[in-house]
Order: sequence, then structure tokens, then C-alpha cells
Amino acid sequence: MQVYDLIQKTIRKEKLSDSEIQFLIRGFTENQIPDYMMSAWLMAVRCQELSPEETAAMTLAIRDSGEILDFSEIPGVTVDKHSTGGIGDKTTLMIAPIVAACGGYVPKMSGRGLGFTGGTIDKLESIPGFSVNLSRQDFYRQVQKIGCAVIAQSGNLTPADKKIYALRNLTATVDSIPLISASIMSKKLALNADCILLDVKCGSGAFMKTRESAFALAESMKSTAIAHGKKCSAVITDMNAPLGMAVGNALEVREAISILRCEIHNPLAELVIDLSGRMLALSSSDSLQKCKYNALKALRSGKALEKFAEMIAAQGGDASVTDHPEKLPHSRASKILIADRSGYLASVHSEEVGLACLELGAGRTSANSQIDPGAGVIFLHQIGDEIRKNDILCEIHANSEALCEQAEKRLRAAIQITEMSVPERQLIDSVI
Ligand code: URA
Repeated sequence: MQVYDLIQKTIRKEKLSDSEIQFLIRGFTENQIPDYMMSAWLMAVRCQELSPEETAAMTLAIRDSGEILDFSEIPGVTVDKHSTGGIGDKTTLMIAPIVAACGGYVPKMSGRGLGFTGGTIDKLESIPGFSVNLSRQDFYRQVQKIGCAVIAQSGNLTPADKKIYALRNLTATVDSIPLISASIMSKKLALNADCILLDVKCGSGAFMKTRESAFALAESMKSTAIAHGKKCSAVITDMNAPLGMAVGNALEVREAISILRCEIHNPLAELVIDLSGRMLALSSSDSLQKCKYNALKALRSGKALEKFAEMIAAQGGDASVTDHPEKLPHSRASKILIADRSGYLASVHSEEVGLACLELGAGRTSANSQIDPGAGVIFLHQIGDEIRKNDILCEIHANSEALCEQAEKRLRAAIQITEMSVPERQLIDSVI
């Protein structure tokens, strides 16, 4: 088998067999295929796409490059969730304890933020003492004992994905639906939960900027999951504006705690109940309506908050933050942004907010850069709210006033106030 011939086949849109795809993935992972040849094949895929069968074969070849987890000792059905990432997406912090409080088992491996998108792991690490690195045995034991654990991707999971993703980053081949689908689903299949809920973000702050591309990615990922024996459902959710009120690691943990404490009820809280209900419905025989009701009951009764505290304590963190969120890290400086006119909050450009938060120190510009856990932005209004001149639009937090001032201009430009009223934002676009 020659790599050259396989590149030509993909350029001509001729289907590669499973063994040809395995040959490419294994050869590259084991350093037998050089970067320049793999780059050429990835670019051919980027331009000509892969069939669903080829995407499924690539997913399996990447999954099989490393360890596959085994939750067979868990006395119940395990359920995982994947969000394709966005600005202010803190849903895992609430969903994992809600589902666990309803009797579900949620083993979750999450990522760190890179560029303008945040990562659940950085958010959790803003809780004093919280460890995202559990041994496999401790991970299994915690899921079995308390129903949820959220850790960083670790060990020998999908080494092929790490190598291929690094090359894609350098060769303008990240934004390819089959490559994204294979990358994400290989990790989901290696984690190996019984059920998977996919939350595909769509809009200015997401990988998928259009509904068409979000649908295509969701369909590709869902069909791969189902082909490999997983129960799976996918939702497309809006990422044209940040999710919730806070963007920035500790600020987002505070917002999650406020929702778990039932101090605020906003569209984010509704989304969290909806997604939790869907995860419970995937992993049980109850109707979706009943599962959503159970999720709401777990939230309202305080059981989900207790479960979050239990998870924090089990992972070495200071669980008293759930009663005293002021113990979470703070930045040294803050500034408020005042509305310069009256009207209605029509849009908040999420990518711009993500970039402003990156400048404030809340995100990473490279994999090794340090983050300021207290930095970020808190919005005081939702899309559709009436705004009066001189109302506070948002609070900006960073470690210096200069950083706050620098972000102010970008944030002001990201916030659009119109004279015409605008409809309330619908977070769930569609269910697939
Ligand atoms: N997230 C991943 O894990 N892989 C991609 O290719 C894109 C987003």
C-alpha cells in the first residue's frame, strides 16, 4: 500500500477501505508516515470530504490507537455529554451533578480552553484544591460511589488524535467536518460510556458558524456513535451570544453555583435542565418529560448542589465554595461598562467576548500559557432585555486596570443595543 496512491484516491473522491484508513492512521501514529504525506492526505480530506463509512473507519482507527476505558463494574448505565465548545459554556458543572443526583452515572473527561473558547477543566481548577488528575482506579471508584467525576483527558487515550490534531492546527485542516467528527467521536468511544449526548454549538462563538455545518457535524457524530452501539442524541444550541451571564473561569463557577442554589433562573438554567433530562432519558426507560421533571426536582431540592459539593470534596477541592462562593479566586481590578443609549439588548458577539476575555487573562494563547482564574466578564442583562441609558451592561475583571480598559472598547463594540424590541433568545435550535 502506498500513501501516495491513497492521497490520489481521496483527491479523486474514491472511497478508501477500512484497512487503507487503518494503514494511514497507524502509520502516522507510529512515525512510519512522514508529516508532509499525512498533511497532503488531511488537505485532500479537507477539500474532498470523507464518506460516512470512511469517517467511521477513521474514528475507530484513532480510538484503537490507545486505551479504551471499561465501566463494566458500574452497576448502571453510564452517560457522557460532549459540547463542541463555546463562550461561557459551563453546563457540565451543573449537568454532571444533576444527572448523578437523579441516579445516573456520569464519567466525564473534559478539555482545557485554548484560544477564545473556555475549557471545563480550567473552570474546575479555579476551585481551591480541585484535582482534575485522578488515577484510572480513582476515576472508576468515584463514578461508582458518587455518580460523577470530571477529569482532564489523561493517560494513553487516542494518541493518534493528539498527533493528527497538532498537524491539522499547522496545516489549516481543522475546519473539516469528517476530521472534527472523527477526532471528537474517537475520544468519546475511547471513554466508552453507554450513552452520549452531543451538544453542537452553532454561531459566531462556535466552530460551526452556520446551521448547515452544525447539522452536518451533529449528523456525522451521531451516526458514528450509533454505528458503534452507543445510544446517542444530538442537539444544536445557539452560540451567537455567550451562554449565561459570566465568561471567565471562577466567574463561571460562581454562576453555576448560583444556578445550583436556585438563586437565579435564566435561559442557561433551562438549557441545563433540558440537557440533563435528555441524558437521563438516554440512560433510562423513562420519558423525556419525566426525566426533565426529575432533573428540575434535583435542582430545586438542593440535591444537585449537594452532589456538586460531594464531587468537589472527592476530587480534593474546597467544597465550602458551594456555600461561600466568595472563596473563589478574584482578580485585583474591575471596571463597569455603562450603556451610552437606551433600547433593547439585541446581540452580544460571542467571539469578540471570547477574545476580550483572552486579553483579560482568562484564556490561553498557547497550550502552556498561564491563566488568571478570576478574570472575565459578567453581563447584567439577557438578549431582549430593555436597557436604559447609564444602566450597567457588564463588569470587567482582570489583574490590572489597564487590562480592563483595554477590553472595554472591544466589549462595547460587541454589544448591540437597538431601538426595536427583539425576541427572547432560544438556546435550543434543534434536536437530531
Ligand atoms: N475538538 C476536538 O476534539 N477535535 C476537533 O477536531 C475539533 C474540536
